[in-house]
Amino acid sequence: MAIILGIESSCDDTSASICMDGKICSNIIANQDIHNKYGGVVPELASRVHQQNIIPAVHQAIADAKIHKNDIDAVAFTRGPGLLGSLIVGTSFAKGFALANQLPLIEVNHMQAHILAHFIPNVSGKAGNKEPNYIPPRFPFLCLTVSGGHTQIVLIKDYFDMEIVGETTDDAAGEAFDKTAKILGLPYPGGPLIDKYAQLGNPLAFNFPEPQIKDLNFSFSGLKTSIMYFVRDKQKIDPSFLDTYLNDVCASVQHRIVTILLNKLKKAAKQYNITTVAIAGGVSANSGLRSALRKTADENKWDVFIPEFQYCTDNAAMIAIAGYYKYLNKDFVGQDVAPLARMAFR
Ligand code: KG4
Ligand code: ZN
Repeated sequence: MAIILGIESSCDDTSASICMDGKICSNIIANQDIHNKYGGVVPELASRVHQQNIIPAVHQAIADAKIHKNDIDAVAFTRGPGLLGSLIVGTSFAKGFALANQLPLIEVNHMQAHILAHFIPNVSGKAGNKEPNYIPPRFPFLCLTVSGGHTQIVLIKDYFDMEIVGETTDDAAGEAFDKTAKILGLPYPGGPLIDKYAQLGNPLAFNFPEPQIKDLNFSFSGLKTSIMYFVRDKQKIDPSFLDTYLNDVCASVQHRIVTILLNKLKKAAKQYNITTVAIAGGVSANSGLRSALRKTADENKWDVFIPEFQYCTDNAAMIAIAGYYKYLNKDFVGQDVAPLARMAFR
């Protein structure tokens, strides 16, 4: 029996989870609404709120799992990548907890953990990928990891043998959603709102350009600029343009972001001759991306893996499951470990 406490604090969600023998028994997420009025995450405020939320989140995760603190065998925490001040809170807590209880410490890469969320099994009545008879992806597979800070196509050969084969050269896909929302006057985080309005609009109403980027890499900054000029020009002619066409603009922008992502994913699948394909990260909650991926998977006969909503955006269950697989390998770190704002896969 191995019980792992997972801690996630890389951005603006404080999360704690208990994983028992590879099954998730609790997953507590404390969101930070304080950033909404600033139109984006304010790093200094995020660190302070993590400091307030971390102990209650851990207490709740332990209580929900119906275990005692002394039952825990190891502490896994997000070492990076992320906001340094936010990471310091989770890392320091993990180190203190491990030292006080004489437990091994396990570092986890946040982006690898988003992918490993696909290995959270179905446990009836408890947290887990709820699909009946859920079987995780088989190695090797490709994962499109799309979040607020990253956009990557990753080739996964084993739990911790991952290679980034394509990534963004500027903005991340989540940033493209959030920056578009800002241009359209929508509050932060704009991704879920664009998704909501897009469902009411025509995705072919307006044609935004697809950037011509080499290999399997992405670029989203040109799209953001073209949306900015498009809205400015339309509003010059008709000041109430957005009142009338908000749904169509959201649907057209979302359609473009989704086609950019899926065209590269198709190219990667062909190049690496792989038919098992997954998505991960906050943007994988997007309904347009989920349905377009299902359609692409049918057309290309892919075996496709789309995470449940609760494991798309930041959560500690993915840290705990990654920690569990590292625990089996006895892959521990010392008390001198420090967080990393940028962190390579390991
Ligand atoms: O993985 P995540 O929770 O945090 C990071 O590690 O960055 O991803 C957050 C990103 C934000 O940019 C947010 O707008 C986006 O995921 N997002 C969405 C949706 N839900 C979250 N983007 C589009 N449609 C959604 N439904
Ligand atoms: Zn994330």
